Amino acid sequence: MAVIILAIESSCDDTSVAVIRDGYILSNLIAGQEVHMMYGGVVPELASRAHQANIVPVTDVAIRQAGISRKDINAVAFTRGPGLLGSLLVGTSFAKGVALALGIPLIEVNHLQAHVLAHFILEEQAGHQQPSFPFLCLLVSGGHSMLIVLKDYLEMEIIGNTIDDAAGEAFDKCGKLMGLPYPAGPAIDRQAKQGNRTAFRFAKPFVEGLDFSFSGLKTSFLYFLRDRTKEDPDFISRNIPDLCASLQATIVDILIGKLVRASLQTGIREIGIAGGVSANSELREALTREGIKRGWNTYVPPLGYTTDNAAMIGITGYYKYLRGEYVGHDVTPMARL
Ligand code: KG4
Ligand code: ZN
Repeated sequence: MAVIILAIESSCDDTSVAVIRDGYILSNLIAGQEVHMMYGGVVPELASRAHQANIVPVTDVAIRQAGISRKDINAVAFTRGPGLLGSLLVGTSFAKGVALALGIPLIEVNHLQAHVLAHFILEEQAGHQQPSFPFLCLLVSGGHSMLIVLKDYLEMEIIGNTIDDAAGEAFDKCGKLMGLPYPAGPAIDRQAKQGNRTAFRFAKPFVEGLDFSFSGLKTSFLYFLRDRTKEDPDFISRNIPDLCASLQATIVDILIGKLVRASLQTGIREIGIAGGVSANSELREALTREGIKRGWNTYVPPLGYTTDNAAMIGITGYYKYLRGEYVGHDVTPMARL
């Protein structure tokens, strides 16, 4: 019998609901929240209010688009954390309500594990070259920069982590200094295509082992802009493409450098990237290039599964369902895991 999972993601500023059947996506709806743009970052209180307004209509459309009826759903999977507590509370409470009303099991999902498992989402009419285990994945998002070894679908080990800012934060904060709207990652990616990646040099932090640090880069970028605009008040507007290309090159070099180190250290050659920053075109190309050079099998997720989405929660929920890993209704969201 087919297994149908209703999946709910509400950890940050995207309300997303997906329906998946036996690992295949039937629908994956995402309602973004433009309200944060004018504040230059996510405002937690506004995010949870928007989730509250969006979650019922988004779920309705996701079920309709999937062409199923509510009674076909076998379990509800939801993001328990990490994320913004108020936002997580909306998804968690809603998932409990659905599970209770339909009399079906409730499955909690770790958002970070879900980003990595995005590589295992199945789509009709798509070739599916999936990683084999152990799988080494660089997870880079607005909140995290991690090197993760996946030993099996549900068995993950974090072997590297950021000691301060995440890679996505480096994009977003430096973008803000250049006057780009939040989140700045996609705009930097676009602008960088017209720029010269060696136009400016920014110091790369030295961090031992497999950990990352990005706050120093942000500070050196700030001082660099401050000094240059003293000499030329229009320095930023005159140099946006070169600034974006040079900044992006620095971040990508740091990330790929650590990935190479992690592969050498672990001996793993099944290698992928995940999370919002894995949408970055230079990072995607750099991984593929490095893979060819080093004989790795590389995995780059489809763009739609890089930033936050419920499909990744659904695939994780599916594997937990197969193992009978359910939770009781006393489960509470966790901002940090
Ligand atoms: O995974 P995600 O949607 O949310 C978190 O779990 O944090 O990641 C969002 C992050 C933001 O920092 C955004 O600027 C970054 O992903 N991002 C990008 C690109 N698209 C999204 N960064 C660089 N290049 C992109 N194309
Ligand atoms: Zn995320």
